[in-house]
Amino acid sequence: MTDSITISPPDDWHLHLRDGPMLETVVGHSASQFTRAMVMPNLVPPATQCQQLLDYRQRILAALPDDSQFNPIMALYLTDQLDEAEISEAASNPHIGAVKLYPAGATTNSDAGIGDLQAIYPILEWMEKHDLPLLVHGEVTDPEIDIFDRETVFLERHLQPIVDTFTNLRVVLEHITTAHGIAFVEQARSGVGGTLTAHHLLLNRNHMLVGGIQPHHYCLPVLKRESHRQALIAAATSGNPRFFAGTDSAPHPKSEKESACGCAGIYTAPIAVELYTEVFDNANSLNRLEGFLSHHGADFYRLPRNPGEITLQRNPCPVEREFGQDEQRVVPLRAGGWCQWQILSRTN
Ligand code: DOR
Ligand code: ZN
Repeated sequence: MTDSITISPPDDWHLHLRDGPMLETVVGHSASQFTRAMVMPNLVPPATQCQQLLDYRQRILAALPDDSQFNPIMALYLTDQLDEAEISEAASNPHIGAVKLYPAGATTNSDAGIGDLQAIYPILEWMEKHDLPLLVHGEVTDPEIDIFDRETVFLERHLQPIVDTFTNLRVVLEHITTAHGIAFVEQARSGVGGTLTAHHLLLNRNHMLVGGIQPHHYCLPVLKRESHRQALIAAATSGNPRFFAGTDSAPHPKSEKESACGCAGIYTAPIAVELYTEVFDNANSLNRLEGFLSHHGADFYRLPRNPGEITLQRNPCPVEREFGQDEQRVVPLRAGGWCQWQILSRTN
């Protein structure tokens, strides 16, 4: 049995940091785990302009611990108003890495997202021309479609045509939750990748619904049945460079999670690397952890792999019950429970 593992420092290619007091509460957790992160723009109001993103990035940097080397790379919020000048500016700025597509109404703060996907084809053409990757929340919002089928239907209706039409556009299917999403990415043309969250690798829908509703296990796309989770684990641990880590760590105040209408999002940032390590360990695939956590994403975004190393040790560690103060208290996944691995050391 391997009891410790040393790999290049990892990156989180899908992260929600929020703003204001919540940002202050959470950003240090990601910075202690990851070297870089792709930061999502679904703020209130959403960050739809490069300047808004760069201002937000400054607030993130200001909220970091003094000695932190954490590098936030920003994703621009796609609206049907995005013009070519803005895309060109984003593509030429090293602090902006991608554009994020939210179908309108699909998830938290997505109301300003896209209603008619056909209407953004000119924008996608500009993104292809300027080589700016598209990150996709891949779920339809059609009320007729069952929530458990929304990812699968999105692939057929929308993502396949986009991938076929813009053959040089780099596309990431974010937070894949189904065997269909995995197959889509595996079979797609080159330039198509997918992120996997720790929570979708660890939990199935029983964890959300059996023994009482578990609001801290509610996220979007919603947790699926066990056979889908097994497909995600197989993909993550396969060594296929199309798949890489994106936590989708999404903090919400405890009061808004433990509510009659609880919001979607699972907070994994404080223990994300430990959780991914546990998944790979359980699958007897620790030899593939480094590719998934630290190499594949950087390679996809054509960024250098991180220098330095991080060492994890098999050592059960308790997880805090909550972080932050008062209205900003946030409950992590596994609150009051245990992680099987621990970060022992990290160098830059
Ligand atoms: O569970 C989620 N929470 N899924 C998303 O797509 C958005 C995120 C959030 O921002 O809270
Ligand atoms: Zn997200």
